[in-house]
Amino acid sequence: MAIRIGVPTETAHGERRVAATPESVKKLRELGFEVQIERGAGLPSGFSDDAFAQAGAALVDRDAVWKASDVIVKVRPPSLEEAKSAREGATLISLVQPERHPGLTEVMTSLKLAAVALERIPRITRAQKMDVLSSMANLAGYRAVIEAAQHYQGFFGPQMTAAGATPPAKVLVIGAGVAGLAAIATARALGAEVRAFDTRSATREQVQSLGATFLTVDVAESGEGAGGYAKQMSQAFIEAEMALFSRQAEEVNIIISTALVPGAKAPVLLPKDVVERLKPGSVIVDMAAEQGGNCALTQPDQVVDWNGVRIIGFTDLASRMAETASRFFANNIVHLLQEMGGGTGFRVDLENDVVRPAVVTYGGEVLPPPPRKDPTPLAKPAGQARTARPPPPEAKPAQKDIHKPTRRGWGYNLFGMLVVGLLFVLGRFAPNDFLQHLVVFVLACFVGWQVIWSVTPALHTPLMSVTNAISGIIIIGGLLQIGAGLDMATVLGVLAVLFAAINVCGGFLVTQRMLKMFRRGPEGGGGA
Ligand code: NAI
Repeated sequence: MAIRIGVPTETAHGERRVAATPESVKKLRELGFEVQIERGAGLPSGFSDDAFAQAGAALVDRDAVWKASDVIVKVRPPSLEEAKSAREGATLISLVQPERHPGLTEVMTSLKLAAVALERIPRITRAQKMDVLSSMANLAGYRAVIEAAQHYQGFFGPQMTAAGATPPAKVLVIGAGVAGLAAIATARALGAEVRAFDTRSATREQVQSLGATFLTVDVAESGEGAGGYAKQMSQAFIEAEMALFSRQAEEVNIIISTALVPGAKAPVLLPKDVVERLKPGSVIVDMAAEQGGNCALTQPDQVVDWNGVRIIGFTDLASRMAETASRFFANNIVHLLQEMGGGTGFRVDLENDVVRPAVVTYGGEVLPPPPRKDPTPLAKPAGQARTARPPPPEAKPAQKDIHKPTRRGWGYNLFGMLVVGLLFVLGRFAPNDFLQHLVVFVLACFVGWQVIWSVTPALHTPLMSVTNAISGIIIIGGLLQIGAGLDMATVLGVLAVLFAAINVCGGFLVTQRMLKMFRRGPEGGGGA
């Protein structure tokens, strides 16, 4: 019998998003799932019941979604009442945030729910397409600038008219992660003069590539934690940073603040005296409002007017773009469900390195966060920056040993034995010439792998040029090997030329697609 996915209406105050769209329902059905959606669930984000029905979803009432679904997908954490009405043993996929919702873990374990907390999907390359925090932060960074524009009483770009001229607005962005980079790109697109600050120097290149100025302080301390991710800074650094913002406050009109170290309360970087240095009419958008705020005067979900300076603490920026946010969210969910085996092979695989860190309860137990590997940090094109978010420290140790020897482990052993056997046969029978070439080839693979793996994300673009140059040399070498007859060297030469050409052309195609995404104008995708 097909796995049935249920999509309820979001009940959290002010939430307009929905975890599925007619487009995602079609994809889920192609993956072999049945989908049932609560009547009216899509209306706040502009998706009608008819559109869902046409896409193949069954429209049902709230009770049926919760009680008769194998997998429930939603955006916000369920309320205790909602969680209690789930079917025993069902899978729940949503932002769960158990540390912020007392009692939720107990309900989920008592019902033996497999709860997959989307906020804990690791920020590794393979999981990028399932990372709802990044897709939502990207939208929210854009929206933060639009909200600032709504409250700011001037133009963003410079104006020269018969009635008078205005200089460009000056925007300071604090924290150049996903949201910060999206905010920079948007403010620049509106014509503002943008400067940005981040504790991680790796963000300098991304900030500058968007046409903003990267600010620095005179304290020599790296903000890169393990694996190149943000870490908490010393008091001396925070003070130097605050002194910088205090000077900047006399110049800028708008501040968008996004500073956050994963798993910690947001640092207070804009105290009252800094706010008072801003000109009346200035605007602060404090995106970290939900984690305590970067500004001392922020009130979550309020606009505070402090002597003419507006401080915006909205925590629902992505939901304010509900249609697009729902589409992105729903696509992330489709990719996750595909990763979990699709409709025919669906299971909560505790050996899957994307799924496992996100599973907070399973089979009636609380699962501890898995041992943390330092994931390879990602390259950060605008609006796609990432920093790791370690899971919050609340989870209790589980009783169950989930690290017992696996089938995959046996597979590796068998593969190792085969390789040893093959090397023995080669050593015994292969000609000397061949063995020499093989040694060089194996060493080259090893060195190449080590070199490429250790390159920091900021250098991925130059690395691509170098690999293209190497591919070019391989093509020339391959062409020289292609002789008149059909011998081994010719065949290998043809293969070398083919693969190197694929590498070069693929590289150019990907680069063109990325450039097109950020190019403005009719031929481009239209910004971040
Ligand atoms: P992120 O983790 O990608 O970026 C945060 C950046 O802050 C990192 O680059 C980090 O290096 C930097 N940072 C940390 N400490 C700093 C300091 N002392 N000074 C300067 N920079 C510092 O996070 P992301 O996804 O960009 O989210 C940013 C914030 O926006 C978070 O607080 C997140 O919860 C919030 N957010 C708010 C939404 C809303 O509706 N208000 C929606 C989405 C995200």
